[in-house]
Amino acid sequence: MSNRYAVILAAGQGTRMKSKLYKVLHPVCGKPMVQHVVDQITKLTINEIVTIIGHGAEMVQTQLGDQSLYALQKEQLGTAHAVMQAQDSLMGKEGVTIVVCGDTPLIKAETMESLFKHHEKLKAKATILTAKIDNPTGYGRIIRNQEGLVEKIVEHKDATEEERKINEINTGTYCFDNQALFEALNKVSNDNVQGEYYLPDVIEILKKQGEVVTAYQTEEFEETLGVNDRVALAEAERIMRSRINVAHMRNGVTIIDPANTYIEADVEIGQDTVIYPGTMIKGQAKIGTECIIGPNTEIDTCEIGDETVIRQSAAFNSSIGSHVNIGPFAHIRPESTILDEVKIGNFVEIKKAVFGKGSKASHLSYIGDAEVGRDVNIGCGSITVNYDGKNKFLTKIEDGVFIGCNSNLVAPVTIKKGSYVAAGSTITKNVPEEALAIARAKQLNKEGYVQKLNLKK
Ligand code: UD1
Ligand code: MG
Repeated sequence: MSNRYAVILAAGQGTRMKSKLYKVLHPVCGKPMVQHVVDQITKLTINEIVTIIGHGAEMVQTQLGDQSLYALQKEQLGTAHAVMQAQDSLMGKEGVTIVVCGDTPLIKAETMESLFKHHEKLKAKATILTAKIDNPTGYGRIIRNQEGLVEKIVEHKDATEEERKINEINTGTYCFDNQALFEALNKVSNDNVQGEYYLPDVIEILKKQGEVVTAYQTEEFEETLGVNDRVALAEAERIMRSRINVAHMRNGVTIIDPANTYIEADVEIGQDTVIYPGTMIKGQAKIGTECIIGPNTEIDTCEIGDETVIRQSAAFNSSIGSHVNIGPFAHIRPESTILDEVKIGNFVEIKKAVFGKGSKASHLSYIGDAEVGRDVNIGCGSITVNYDGKNKFLTKIEDGVFIGCNSNLVAPVTIKKGSYVAAGSTITKNVPEEALAIARAKQLNKEGYVQKLNLKK
């Protein structure tokens, strides 16, 4: 195998996206398009990866970090001009360079590997990854001669009516002999409708020099989608979503309605977990085995144990144990730690709280900035009063405590081990171990009250 290099084109603004966000940073299934491309490329053995940055250079660099080298394209004069910027890293080197656009997020490592192999087998100077698609509008067309050999690529905007009928398109991914590439780039002109230096023109230049130029047509035309606008972005999302769902199902996850289940690219799910419709699982979420998630549940970057049930609820940046039962209609806000066998019932909000093993808040509670021990029972309607308008304070509820319904625990406050808080209490002082705290007005019954009222009439 020869040396292999990769150039990723990611300097464009993405005018057709009509967005403040630079095109290659638009997410598909929660991950920026250019990151998808890099994730696939790094599965291959590549000596050097150079990403061409320009618009949003810093943000792209922050996203990709040290997964790539970078070359700055100060002015976006076209895709050929973009590749030229990689010359400091690559010019003169022997080997094969793959060029991939940062706006083709669906391309797979396997397809790139097949392209490399095809290119190396035919000892070509250039190999274009092509695909036949139903609607080629907007793509560069592959022009072949009478023998069926590739002659050149014509951009949609420069194409004649006849050429526009061709449905074999340039996917924007190519392999080049590295030295031949940089020599040919110098010869590219910008004499075209867009006044840009087109990378596809390298094909015609090499062909005219009598070099071997080939095409590798992939059957996986869905992979080659180039995202130039929001319509294509939604299409990419749909295809990627289906790919992700299929992978989870093949791994033993039941997805009741894949068309209605939204799982982002980096999510992990264990075997025999069942995902019900309307569920979104996002970010770095990691779900264990035999869980039931959904319907209509949003989980973002939570680690969840085994055999946990989360119904009609939302959970963010938290850790949730095994055999936990959450929902319906619960809200787990960031930095919460919910240990095994906990029950969080309907209309309960948890924020930045630890919930010890076997504890319960079954209905209508707010527990924020709190440390709840083991086997605690928090009665219906009880809340932690954690905020005085300026600062947040901690509530500690130790093991085995029973909080009666509708209690206010005004923080900072500690309810010690095994104690009871009577229903309707507003607790402002610490409660000692195994005590009963009652903090509510004494009940007064006025006997005969109604009778007196009636006499007055
Ligand atoms: C390009 C190809 C077209 C192909 C299509 C596949 C050219 C001229 N045309 O068209 O044949 O069918 O991709 O999706 O190459 N970029 C830069 N610097 C620039 C210009 C672009 O880095 O000066 C980057 C963009 O950020 C983008 C990629 O190159 O990631 C492709 O540019 P784009 O404008 O999307 O080209 P297409 O019109 O899609
Ligand atoms: Mg494009």
